[in-house]
Amino acid sequence: MTTISKSTEEILIEAARAAKVNSYSPYSNFPVGAAVLLEDGQIFKGTNMENASYGLTCCAERVALFSARTASSAKISALAISIGHEDIELAKDSMVPCGACRQVMTEFLDPETPVYIDGNRSFTLDELLPYSFKLNV
Ligand code: THU
Repeated sequence: MTTISKSTEEILIEAARAAKVNSYSPYSNFPVGAAVLLEDGQIFKGTNMENASYGLTCCAERVALFSARTASSAKISALAISIGHEDIELAKDSMVPCGACRQVMTEFLDPETPVYIDGNRSFTLDELLPYSFKLNV
């Protein structure tokens, strides 16, 4: 597993924060940003993309993960997420990625990969989704 320095962690969290600027969230007014760090140092951002047909909304984490994977098959070293904005009071326990995104993370991240959450503690993917569903491919 790659060791991530504190400064790289901060850069990644800042990238997740920056991604929220272009959040398309006119229905919820709830911006989320995510940033994926690849082993080669590249960072890919994503933000939530909502739709009038609500169920078609795609979370920031999945946008970032799919964008990273589209550009490169390099291993993912870390993921950072920035949830909501300063006017939204969120309990720390709620500042976590949704279940669907955790399952998608399982596809691309190792269980020990860190997931940094802006304003909250960090988790490994295994802490977020233990006993995850996988197929042996
Ligand atoms: N959202 C994310 O982008 N990531 C999550 O992990 C949870 C929720 C988005 C979806 C929707 O646009 C808004 O937050 C409110 O649910």
